[in-house]
Amino acid sequence: MKNTILTIVSIAALVGCKDTPTSADYSLQTPVDLTTQRDGEVHPGKKLMETQCYVCHNPSTGENGRIAPPMVAVKSHYKTGNITKDDFKDAIWEFVKKPNPHKAKMNGAVKRFGLMPYQKFDEKEIKQIADYIYDNKIDEPTWFKEHIENESNGKVQYRNDGKTYEQPKGTAGAQNSEGSSKSTPADRGLEYAMSTKKELGKNLMGAIQRKGTKEAVVFCNKQAYPITDSMAIAHNATIKRVTDKPRNPKNQASKEELDIITVFKNAVANNSKYEPITIVQNGSTQFYYPITTNSMCLQCHGTPQKDIPRDVLQTINKLYPADEATGYNVNEVRGLWSITFVNQ
Ligand code: HEC
Ligand code: HEC
Repeated sequence: MKNTILTIVSIAALVGCKDTPTSADYSLQTPVDLTTQRDGEVHPGKKLMETQCYVCHNPSTGENGRIAPPMVAVKSHYKTGNITKDDFKDAIWEFVKKPNPHKAKMNGAVKRFGLMPYQKFDEKEIKQIADYIYDNKIDEPTWFKEHIENESNGKVQYRNDGKTYEQPKGTAGAQNSEGSSKSTPADRGLEYAMSTKKELGKNLMGAIQRKGTKEAVVFCNKQAYPITDSMAIAHNATIKRVTDKPRNPKNQASKEELDIITVFKNAVANNSKYEPITIVQNGSTQFYYPITTNSMCLQCHGTPQKDIPRDVLQTINKLYPADEATGYNVNEVRGLWSITFVNQ
């Protein structure tokens, strides 16, 4: 197909973030920039928190099914005394940029959930999240207030001060952009990808914590598809996770997807900022966004023996005799969200 070359050239320009090329056949959406607040839009830190932190720190999971403390617990431990907003933002960034047990203020949480896995985050985005948390009353679980005061014997105070955040008129939150006539195809694609990531991540971390990594492999084998498919049905979209190095052969990327994986791999390797790629054509959208690794992934996708314990490797090899999905490091492109939906 002659258009493929044109698309890839356009995509390269887009990833390079220079401009937004269009062609007769493809209209590429303006990339979504989650870090700037546009008029009448939600606080950028709120959206970023919901997409990047709520996989683990969401306010809706019950006390027992959790894989990390709710964000209000983090706020209660960090917004202490008369701390200024700048110091608060620095303190959050200081931990998140490289979690370390010596820096942790939440020792009970480290014991219960394990240290927060290292993920590569952007300083500007983390500070926007912290800005939002500092200024606003954030959503919290109903059981939280009693829990924190009991558990710490009154040593840690419940803190969730700030304005009650009001959604600007005519917008829907990141959690509920469904039905928002204003959201662009790129916004919708990202929302579908992030909500599926959240659902998979929550279930995977829960399985690891409850049953150990080896059993979690069996869990992924049985549940990765049903969970992804149920999200696809909920969003009325086709949602695929594809890769150049498949564990499950059904996830092998197509020729076009492989080209896009290469583009994202280069962007990640060069530390350049990347944006989702959306191709709008004939009333439907094809959306692509990379899936990157964090330290938690390495116990099943890292280097055998060094990162992947022997019993875990045995289970992987039994279930996936042709497995190619090992040898990864932190912050590498493991694959691609490939999502298709009909435009509204
Ligand atoms: C993959 C799960 C996961 C994600 C995603 C995640 N966290 Fe965490 N985080 C944890 C866990 C588990 C803890 C509790 C253990 C600890 O304190 O390290 C934690 C603790 C924290 C703490 C308190 C650390 C301390 O003990 O002093 C901060 C601050 C924090 N997270 C910020 C964030 C922010 C901001 C984001 C989103 C940009 C985020 N986290 C995303 C799992 C996660
Ligand atoms: C407990 C082990 C385990 C952990 C931890 C794990 N995975 Fe996987 N992963 C699997 C298994 C098993 C499959 C195959 C699922 C299937 O059969 O559909 C898989 C499949 C995938 C796929 C689909 C492509 C393929 O190779 O089949 C992607 C993408 C992926 N994992 C990314 C990640 C990322 C990113 C992380 C960390 C955030 C992660 N995984 C953590 C076990 C794991």
